[in-house]
Amino acid sequence: MNEISSAIDLRQITKRVHSKNGAEIEILQPIDLQVQQGEFLALVGPSGCGKSTLLNICAGLTPFTSGELTVSPNPRTGLKAKLGYMFQTDSLLPWRTILKNVQCGLDFDGVEKNLAESQARQMIQQLGLSGFENHYPSELSGGMRQRASLARTWVTNPDILLMDEPFGALDSQTKQLIQELFLTFWEEHRKTVVLVTHDIDEALLMADRVIVMSARPGCFKSSYQIDFPRPRIVEDVRSRPEFVDYRRHIWNDLKQEALQTMGKTSS
Ligand SMILES: Nc1ncnc2c1ncn2[C@@H]1O[C@H](COP(=O)(O)OP(=O)(O)OP(=O)(O)O)[C@@H](O)[C@H]1O
Ligand SMILES: [Mg+2]
Repeated sequence: MNEISSAIDLRQITKRVHSKNGAEIEILQPIDLQVQQGEFLALVGPSGCGKSTLLNICAGLTPFTSGELTVSPNPRTGLKAKLGYMFQTDSLLPWRTILKNVQCGLDFDGVEKNLAESQARQMIQQLGLSGFENHYPSELSGGMRQRASLARTWVTNPDILLMDEPFGALDSQTKQLIQELFLTFWEEHRKTVVLVTHDIDEALLMADRVIVMSARPGCFKSSYQIDFPRPRIVEDVRSRPEFVDYRRHIWNDLKQEALQTMGKTSS
């Protein structure tokens, strides 16, 4: 692997916390991870294994206990990489309209007001939300709010996108549509993405690499390089025999860890 082109580089990263009764809890065992520039990486693992913790460490939102984290500058501009973070819930600001929500990242970046508004409107239109610019989040469905969240994250043109189960709360139909939309966007722009998901199919449809994490304390149990050609057509990918094979392997890895998390053993 070419180390120079890593967008995110984690060396022997660990995380321990103290519980309220003073006991030390090991959340992450030493983790080494290099995410390449423009790579789409998916992380799957049982509940509580440390996926969100790891993503938060990458984003600089959570301190780590030991190890080294490097987020490389944008290789084209040489400037500090801009991170976009998409949470599991839409996290839109309820008191701002959809337009103002989508625009807020641009305002924060100091983009001139008229330009910010026109870019936000364009992104809203691309995500099929035209006509809802002046609505408030409470007036939109869950799928629409999630699209607005995607617009808000995407419009700032992040170099690295960290996504924590962004489609997890959606119904299956909306989920598939948004997955396809996101996949098309990503294939056009090829940003570095780390996607945390519980959905193996989602990981296989989108990612270049899928890493399976162990039960807590989390570490990397297995890694799969997913070489389906791009652009990927969701239904074509799903019908490939390799898709079914990958899914079976990943589920076997995951199942053992999920059972361990639940205090059971695999028969
Ligand atoms: N401050 C804390 N004190 C005690 N335990 C903590 C603290 N922060 C996180 N944990 C524990 O760390 C573990 C990892 O949490 P994390 O949210 O990263 O898991 P996850 O893999 O994202 O789970 P899920 O799939 O359910 O979202 C959990 O078992 C959680 O209870
Ligand atoms: Mg989580």
